[in-house]
Amino acid sequence: MTKNPPEKIKKEIEGLVKGLNYHCYRYYVLDSPVISDEEYDKLYLRLKELEDKYHYTLPDSPTQRVGLPPLEKFEKVKHREPMLSLENAFSYKDVREFDSRIKRHLSTQAFGKSHTEIDYTVEPKYDGLAIELIYRKGILHKASTRGNGYEGEDVTQNIRTIKSVPLRIEDAEGVPQEIDVRGEVYMDIKDFALLNKERGKRGEPLFANPRNAAAGSVRQLDPSITASRKLHLACYGIGTLKGKEFKTQWEFIRWLETARFPVPVLVKEVSGIDKVIDVINEIAKKRAEFPFETDGVVIKVNDFNLQSSLGVKTREPRWAVAYKFPAHQGTTKIKDIIPSVGRTGVITPVAMLEPVKIGGVTVSRSTLHNWDEIERKDIMVGDTVVVERAGDVIPHVVMVIKDKRTRKEKTFPIPDKCPVCGSRVVKEKGEVAARCIGLNCPAQVRERIRHFASRGALDIEGLGEKNVELLYSKGLIKHFIDVYKLKKEDIINLPRFANKSAQNLIDAINKSKHTTLARFLYALGILHVGEYASNLLAKNFKSLEDIYNVKSERLMNISQIGEKIANSVSRFFSDPQNTETLETLKSLDVEVTNPDFEGEKKEKEPLEGLTFVITGALPKSRKDVEEMIERYGGHASSSVSKSTDYLVVGEEAGSKLEKAKNLGVKIISYEKFLTLIKL
Ligand code: IVH
Repeated sequence: MTKNPPEKIKKEIEGLVKGLNYHCYRYYVLDSPVISDEEYDKLYLRLKELEDKYHYTLPDSPTQRVGLPPLEKFEKVKHREPMLSLENAFSYKDVREFDSRIKRHLSTQAFGKSHTEIDYTVEPKYDGLAIELIYRKGILHKASTRGNGYEGEDVTQNIRTIKSVPLRIEDAEGVPQEIDVRGEVYMDIKDFALLNKERGKRGEPLFANPRNAAAGSVRQLDPSITASRKLHLACYGIGTLKGKEFKTQWEFIRWLETARFPVPVLVKEVSGIDKVIDVINEIAKKRAEFPFETDGVVIKVNDFNLQSSLGVKTREPRWAVAYKFPAHQGTTKIKDIIPSVGRTGVITPVAMLEPVKIGGVTVSRSTLHNWDEIERKDIMVGDTVVVERAGDVIPHVVMVIKDKRTRKEKTFPIPDKCPVCGSRVVKEKGEVAARCIGLNCPAQVRERIRHFASRGALDIEGLGEKNVELLYSKGLIKHFIDVYKLKKEDIINLPRFANKSAQNLIDAINKSKHTTLARFLYALGILHVGEYASNLLAKNFKSLEDIYNVKSERLMNISQIGEKIANSVSRFFSDPQNTETLETLKSLDVEVTNPDFEGEKKEKEPLEGLTFVITGALPKSRKDVEEMIERYGGHASSSVSKSTDYLVVGEEAGSKLEKAKNLGVKIISYEKFLTLIKL
């Protein structure tokens, strides 16, 4: 809603929008900010305050980059000019042939005066996702993906979240009435690696490469997810243009820069194919330092008139070509696969390779990511595989060469036991990650202790990531329980520690020995059991021991505890190493009390106060049914009397049935009995 605020306010809002957009450009496009983050935030907050108060928001306000609700689906967008792809050149010979073809064309067309050399632009090929940005009267109107080249998807609200995308075109000579700017959205290699690391921790599927990560991030229905991914833009092309004219690609690129669009790094205008090859060599040399992935160099005829005269083949223009760098791939054999346990317990299969040189680097191992990947690519120990190394990304197996199989290859299933600590390994339905659930697992001990000591857990001040790392590196904590064995003498001489700080840490550790069940459960870091679930459990179980032997059905009876949590809890406590560790903690004076327990509720103990007698053959043994009755708070008796509440009857019931009928005792089937305990 836009109202008309007082002129003074309008001016202030306009000034703030202009200023903030400029600073955004300095920061995200030029990488050279002129104000501090705090100053930026202050201006931003002021703008937001005014916009909200006066209901006056400009279309290029930076506040419009965020805050839109998720979409149901993407609308289709037809490109007014098709978004073409590029022909590939795999050698300098191919590049020279491209140049010869253009010269031949020129000679037949008698294009202008008789050139000897063609002018080109040369720039890196970004490995991302092509998008089109439509600007009307200088304002970003729509953004769409390339799709099939003719029709893509409307991803405007996602593209807006990318800070280097200008929301308004700046042009002192007047903005074009309409312009479609094309470019590549991409993710830096390090941000891709970080994103995958996080996803791995959460057991989510990994992106195969930065390109897939960028594409996956742009094609999100919820723009807040796109906003959380670090995406960049490089603009290199033009679609429809009205109200302005460019004579050459270079002139257009220069204009993009003044209009504050990010353009490809090292983009150059050169004359003649020899110079083109010089630039390719230069880009190839600097390629390893680029933060993003590039697999080639794009060469474009500079003159727009010559471009249109050359025209387009089916899907590729005759005026451009992509020189592809030799792929960083090699062929080798998988000698073995080793499960490697990460800090969060996720187990990653790692292929041990016969060493192979790829792009000047010897590769002898490669991550296989997870068992879904192993299955998808059908990888076996002994297989001959194609391995790829791209930029800084860890080498990965591209494919198996099946023709080379000798039938001696072996599959590599998920191990039952953790290779580091021997605890159980679980892989849940719908999750890709296999995890070790061992509390004491040395591979996980740092992460587990850091969590154990964190604020919402046992809140041990002074036991943050840095100190956990320090104590671990000095061999002072190898197991989960070692925290409670630490002595002041052990730590006083460590770097960053002195008498007082060592005492403080010991005091904090001692203080944490008295804790509540809710905190303690959370501190254990049981998969899927966060603070909320821990609180629920504490409300429903009197003590830690009460949870030890619990079955997941009983847990699922607690409202809001679903199958996932229930299974995870019962699995955790069924691991003997885990319960042993808990007992050891107890012997080290860790005392867990439970002020949150809400007592036995009807909901939890559906059979409380009821006496049952069983007769006849039931689907389960008498003993099992009796146990069930007790577990749900009831009492199982062997003979019918006045105080019997229910007789559970199976097939071929005996004299008890008669007696119950005479006494007026309620007679129920086994099925009915199950409904009493909500099973
Ligand atoms: S020019 C007709 N320039 O490569 C011109 N494309 O293989 C087509 N790409 O769909 C685009 N960096 O997604 C051009 N500097 C660059 C590029 C580039 C990456 C992508 C783009 C295009 C694909 C074609």
